[in-house]
Amino acid sequence: MSHLYIALVGLPARGKSFLAARLLEGLEADGLKVRLFNNGDLRRSRLGAASSLPEFYAPENESARRQREELARINMEQARDFLAGGGNVAVLDAANISRQRRRVLEENLTDAPILFIECINNDAELLEASIERKAGLPEFSGFGLAAAKESFVRRIGYYERLYAPLREERHFVRVETLHNRILEERDCAGIPFYIQIRDILVSDWVRHLYLLRHGQSEYNAQNRIGGDSGLTGKGRKQAEALAAHFQPFDLPYIFTSSRKRAKETAAPLLQGHPGSIHIMLPEFDEISAGECEGMSYTEIRRNLPKEYAARQADKYAYVYPGGEGYITLKDRVGKGFRKALFLSGAAPGIVIIGHQAINRMILSLFFFRRNESVPYIYVPQNEYFHIVSTHRQTLLELVRFTE
Ligand code: F6P
Repeated sequence: MSHLYIALVGLPARGKSFLAARLLEGLEADGLKVRLFNNGDLRRSRLGAASSLPEFYAPENESARRQREELARINMEQARDFLAGGGNVAVLDAANISRQRRRVLEENLTDAPILFIECINNDAELLEASIERKAGLPEFSGFGLAAAKESFVRRIGYYERLYAPLREERHFVRVETLHNRILEERDCAGIPFYIQIRDILVSDWVRHLYLLRHGQSEYNAQNRIGGDSGLTGKGRKQAEALAAHFQPFDLPYIFTSSRKRAKETAAPLLQGHPGSIHIMLPEFDEISAGECEGMSYTEIRRNLPKEYAARQADKYAYVYPGGEGYITLKDRVGKGFRKALFLSGAAPGIVIIGHQAINRMILSLFFFRRNESVPYIYVPQNEYFHIVSTHRQTLLELVRFTE
């Protein structure tokens, strides 16, 4: 059996550890022996809290630099032992940001090829959200949120001073991690397991996604579309039932749109999961019906018959005057969905509480549906879609949680 080192490269909060987790799970599923060697975990266990201060990363901090090099050396040796003992793939999960650090890897790990994988993500908004999320991790618990953010930003600043993108390395691939797109590949064809690795790099990865629609809203009860109404009594009961159903589930991330009905649906669930992080993404706000917002379908047919007929004729391509259509939602929802996946990383379970049209678009990202059938996918308020998706499988079930 062949052997391979994978060395990740990238600034903090660019999705390296999520990728490492996917490589582990994906390659193990293919029957390979894989192990992760994470410098951050080793640092935290050996050096404790002091090593989380930004000054630990200042390039001019000589003693800290030596400590960091020592940690890298330990992981490098353990990775080598792992391959020598029959392991197939050793994944070095660290920033490996400088050419000099990578040269050390190349000089010391000569018993198997090294595939460098650089994680790139320059989406400013997403970075901000990632930093916010990292600042909430136990590592920064002694800081307070604002100070933790500041500290993490300073750490990134130090890394940026040393950052040299991959260029001279013999085998490498550079990946844009928001869309899982390969930007550049060098001499990868002969790398062991590269076909599987490449597939993992470009696949969306969802352990357990619970896709829910908000409970019944005031507007739903009146058959009106759009708006920002709150839940009815029935809707609140649905939200309670949902919270009870999900009580035993591990749900580190709960995403909602910015609409009242979605947030009110999430409220009891969040109460039952005080450790969960709630992230509101306006990308998940319901389709805007423009001039038709707040109208019922009967009113649209009566007052704007041409619009009504045009939508009936081609619901997917139809765009409301001054509003949106399924066709224009695709980008916005796709962007929100990628953000949610990126931010929740290797989380065991995530919840998205969205809306009828939004959830249809999310479902269409996973399951092939002809465009014209997407606007008719059944999206109930008492059932949710459970989705599992990796490079090897995509599963979908519709689960009822209340009457
Ligand atoms: O009726 C509820 C609702 O979420 C509206 O706000 C939205 O306009 C509509 O569903 C989308 O569904 P359809 O595309 O079938 O009209």
